[in-house]
Amino acid sequence: ERLLPAPADLPDVALNPNAAVVLAKRYYRKGASGEQLEDARDMFWRVASAIAAEETKYEASTWKHEDLAREFYDLMTGWRFLPNSPTLMNAGTDLGQLSACFVLPVGDSIEEIFDAVKHAAMIHKSGGGTGFSFSRLRPKESRVGSTGGVASGPISFLRIFNTATEQIKQGGTRRGANMGILRIDHPDIMDFIRAKERDGEFNNFNLSVALTEAFMQAVENDEDYPLIAPHSGLEKGRLKAREVFELLVRKAWESGDPGIVFIDRINRDNPTPDQGEIESTNPCGEQPLLPYEACNLGSVNLSAFFIPGHENDPNPADKGVDWKALKRVIHLGVRFLDNVIDASRFPLERITERVHQNRKIGLGVMGWADLLFQLRIAYDSPEALHLGERMMAFVRDEGRAASKQLAKERGPFPAYPASTFAERDLGPYRNATVTTIAPTGTLSILAGCSSGIEPLFALSFARHVMDGERLVEVNPHFEAAARAEGCHSPRLMETVASKGSIHGMDHLPEAMRRVFVTAMDIEPVWHLKMQAAFQQYTDNAVSKTVNLPNNATIEDIRNIYWMAYEEGCKGVTVYRDGCKSVQVLCTGDGE
Ligand code: CDP
Repeated sequence: ERLLPAPADLPDVALNPNAAVVLAKRYYRKGASGEQLEDARDMFWRVASAIAAEETKYEASTWKHEDLAREFYDLMTGWRFLPNSPTLMNAGTDLGQLSACFVLPVGDSIEEIFDAVKHAAMIHKSGGGTGFSFSRLRPKESRVGSTGGVASGPISFLRIFNTATEQIKQGGTRRGANMGILRIDHPDIMDFIRAKERDGEFNNFNLSVALTEAFMQAVENDEDYPLIAPHSGLEKGRLKAREVFELLVRKAWESGDPGIVFIDRINRDNPTPDQGEIESTNPCGEQPLLPYEACNLGSVNLSAFFIPGHENDPNPADKGVDWKALKRVIHLGVRFLDNVIDASRFPLERITERVHQNRKIGLGVMGWADLLFQLRIAYDSPEALHLGERMMAFVRDEGRAASKQLAKERGPFPAYPASTFAERDLGPYRNATVTTIAPTGTLSILAGCSSGIEPLFALSFARHVMDGERLVEVNPHFEAAARAEGCHSPRLMETVASKGSIHGMDHLPEAMRRVFVTAMDIEPVWHLKMQAAFQQYTDNAVSKTVNLPNNATIEDIRNIYWMAYEEGCKGVTVYRDGCKSVQVLCTGDGE
């Protein structure tokens, strides 16, 4: 009844070659001996009909199951909207766990620590990623009451989580991803900042330091600040804020790790503070969650809403973007994600309860850099920032309108009366949060668009997808522009493939060089400004890497960190080219 048979006239799916590889390898359902049980049409119909089925239990709904399933099918197979990977993999299957993001509490006892290890394993097995704060663990060498021994401290327990993760494949397909967070005022903070110094250590973790407002002020005023033992509340020493901040900056310069999150700012936007504090985010940092909370994400492909022919208008986005169609997709996307909450089966009862109480969803965008290419707007321009703000304000406003509509049909999220929305008399909404900008690492491959709000890494590049597999691709908008400008040649495409960028290729038209910029051509501050522009209109957070060239200085990173603080970002991740041995994305050089 949940999975309708596919209608005979259901259109086939046009897959790009990369999508075909990724889907076959990781997404299609497989039989006991590894044989493929479905193709793209089967898969998207399975997802569409399972998610649309949830609609039928709401009396106020005006949708028929099959009609909505067809809408969802068109949405996905037209590459206009995709839900996060676990939804694609597991909707309508026995596993049925559909969320990408979880946060688990780690309490200060052996029982609680190993409960968290176990629960993380269960979540990884179901395809989700986990975030933890280790801030509640007593520091190393503090006394342990029951034995008279001494505690091992957060870093040593972190190693256990890392090892456990190593052994479990997420949803049977990918190794688990984790976020580990420690507060800046934890006595073991210096060890934590240095934890990834040795190559390969904590390889299943992203680490972030939770910076407090008090700490940032101490940096600003060049003061020291107290380290507090979480179990006793006692001060365990003081550090000079600027020295710690400098170490953070230097580590980020050396290896990109750890990142930083502004934890007080995250809590200022916590819609349900009566349920406790937010201590951690999901693995990639875009989704702050309460302990035992989970969230499912979905992303709209902005480049699918481009209308050709207005590239030379003074404001190309006015008529060059199909705002009406975008609005419709946002509304359907919110309905889809709210249905996903009902369809998902979580590995722990406490997670189910929390999720159903707050009903957080994270609608975001991808294909942003592609849309800018299509509109002939340079990523590193005030115009692009302005359009970014307009775009995300539109997604947030329409997303909230859709959530309001769902509240009318289905009731507000149960924790609404005690939420900050009720307090501010905004609402009622169906979802405690509506918007999140995810990295869209695999979704963007499926949709054949640029990821999240990132600029293109290269106009042509090789992608290491998994197990050393390598896919080469030229950005289609660049290729089309080169043809239109009459400068397309196999030789040009080859040069671009080895360099990644057309920076400095003076024989190409100036306007083309201005628009077709890559992550490496862009001054780092523009990365940050773009993140801040989107963050302003995002309920949760924005996944963004500020890419820096290899010759970027420590000073550059300090400026980026400080700017992230001043511009209202919730965190920041930097990556200096070439500073780690393994990169997920590579330009042709040195391959
Ligand atoms: O594109 P896809 O839906 O596969 O994922 P993404 O947008 O790159 O990542 C979104 C979130 O999925 C991450 O922040 C993690 O919470 C989770 N994730 C994970 O658990 N394991 C991975 N290998 C990748 C993503």
